[in-house]
Amino acid sequence: MKLKNIFNRLVLGAAAISLLGGTAACNYLDVVPPEQVKVEDAMENYNTALGFLYSCYAFSANNSVGELPYGNYLSEMNTTADDVLNPHAWASDGGAAAILLNTISAQNAPDYWGHNYNGIGQCLLFLEQLDKAGLVERGVITADMDREWRAEMKALMAYYHFVILRRYGPIAILEEKLPLDAPQSSFPGRYHFDYCVDWIVNTLDEAAAELPAKRDVAQMGRMTSTICKAIKAQTLLLAASPLYNGSFPYTDFKNTNWETPGYGQELISRTYDASKWNRALAAANEAIDWAETRGDRAIYRGDEYINANINLDEVYIPGGASDEFKAAVLRMRYLHYACENEGNREAIMTTGAGGLTTQWFASFPKKIMQLNSGTMLSGYSGQGPTLFAVTHFLTANGYLPENDPKFTPEAEWFESAGLPDEGVGRSRIINLHVAREPRFYAWIGFDGGDYSLRIANGQPVHLNMLDKDLQGYNTSTRDNSPTGYLCQKFMPPTMQIAPTNTYVGYVGPSRAVIRLAELYLIRAECEAQLGMTDEAIRDVNVIRERAGAQPLTTAMIGAGGMTLMDWVKNERVCEFFNEGKRYFDIRRWVEGDKYLGLGKRMGLNALAKENPSFEEFNKPTRLPYNYTWANKLYLYPIQYGDVYANPQLVQNPGF
Ligand code: GAL
Repeated sequence: MKLKNIFNRLVLGAAAISLLGGTAACNYLDVVPPEQVKVEDAMENYNTALGFLYSCYAFSANNSVGELPYGNYLSEMNTTADDVLNPHAWASDGGAAAILLNTISAQNAPDYWGHNYNGIGQCLLFLEQLDKAGLVERGVITADMDREWRAEMKALMAYYHFVILRRYGPIAILEEKLPLDAPQSSFPGRYHFDYCVDWIVNTLDEAAAELPAKRDVAQMGRMTSTICKAIKAQTLLLAASPLYNGSFPYTDFKNTNWETPGYGQELISRTYDASKWNRALAAANEAIDWAETRGDRAIYRGDEYINANINLDEVYIPGGASDEFKAAVLRMRYLHYACENEGNREAIMTTGAGGLTTQWFASFPKKIMQLNSGTMLSGYSGQGPTLFAVTHFLTANGYLPENDPKFTPEAEWFESAGLPDEGVGRSRIINLHVAREPRFYAWIGFDGGDYSLRIANGQPVHLNMLDKDLQGYNTSTRDNSPTGYLCQKFMPPTMQIAPTNTYVGYVGPSRAVIRLAELYLIRAECEAQLGMTDEAIRDVNVIRERAGAQPLTTAMIGAGGMTLMDWVKNERVCEFFNEGKRYFDIRRWVEGDKYLGLGKRMGLNALAKENPSFEEFNKPTRLPYNYTWANKLYLYPIQYGDVYANPQLVQNPGF
């Protein structure tokens, strides 16, 4: 049985006290609950108080402005970088097109700022009521629990501040609930980025000292010291990264009527400081050690679970593969599906599963199967892995296709690999899709390959991305893969759709916002930066080895001009494909022009015409939209209303 986490109870807890969402339309400094419920009632007994506490988490699980990257199929974090793209019509439905086309502004930007400050406000409100309610005196909770709840709020507030910092750069620090009649002139302005980092890190340290290192399965999702240490490592990595460590592209970004103690009006330092990498490294070391000991976290391996459920013959790999290789493919699918009580202890911070089935459907191919009703069941086919993603997964030898001395030469990548057709189109599989690493086969759907193992009433879909009446481009719908590829990440590996159109064999797992693998790659990045070559290679290889990929060796450094740092960055591209991390990675590395500039987003020639020929389809092609990059996109615009309400708040450059 799948067990989930506290987010499954959020709705219930929040409904009971009706606090949730009540502040959504307000300014972030207004943290007044809705009139109809007296906030004091929320502290009446243990259950209401716990429900109130859970409601403070709800802001992190919001799909539209809550920074929930994992499996949020329309979010700009997932669909405006260079690993996955949606159909253009979908991007236009939400905020993604405004990023892709550089038309985002302080007027039309979604209010992540206000949303997350509302989360902080809810935590402050909780703490205020906790002070007043006398729960310990009344014997409702113990003094230990009281201490833990306070630390939990501290950790959660630090997290919300981090989330705002990562998106907007320097932030206002909100530590206390402002009085309702506070004049605008007393609202806090933005603090120097490095000051914000110190505040977040100190707050996390304080919280960690009072929090348990792990939770029971039913309590997962709640803050732990392990989560605090992981967020600390993320925060310090961000601080050491070029965007905030000497390479911020604007010279004139300053406060006007607000100062940071010790920093004056400066907001982002433009001087490189190597010691920021040492600090991030120390945090990564601490986070990994803690996670693997007290936190009981481990890199997921899960082969037993695989073997109990699936016959390896069900896994199709072009040209064949060993059982070990196929098991690795399945392991990388289960990684995003298996829960804690199924032996997956990789998740460090999790959030709810809400919306995952929609995400799956958005990825599913078209024309999956005929239903009993006579209708043909079609997914939306709209999560399109880009050619960048496809060409940056490793080869079976552990290189990139472009620098693997044994891989098919680039001039022949898009030609048929000449595999026997088997009556299901295998002969259309191109060279680029043969002899790749397990993660490529786990997560990418390509012409001539299989989608899923059992989705179509126990069978895979043999993908035909050319035929308009099968999975190919069809002008009668807006649901077409823009790149000619499909995404298989996050799919329940054994799920079937029955002819009655019911889903069988799955339960929505919780989503890992931070998993242990990330800490290894954070550490590898610090080590690479500090010239600790052996250590960086070792950490990258923890990730590669689990994925069933060939290890990185010293001899590979320099291959095709790739430095050690390039290899570490590429490992993030592979491992975190479609996990929304690339969005911030490109920004913190100040690589917007390089990867997201005009004409950079490419796929196969999937949108040119219906029923293209093999040669017409298999051609690297720029997406037919003016997707572009501008430096102002490094930091997100603060919505106009938030800036207007607070005279101390300066807008980000370019907006
Ligand atoms: C819906 C539409 C679907 C699909 C989806 C994508 O509005 O009905 O066909 O395009 O949007 O989010």
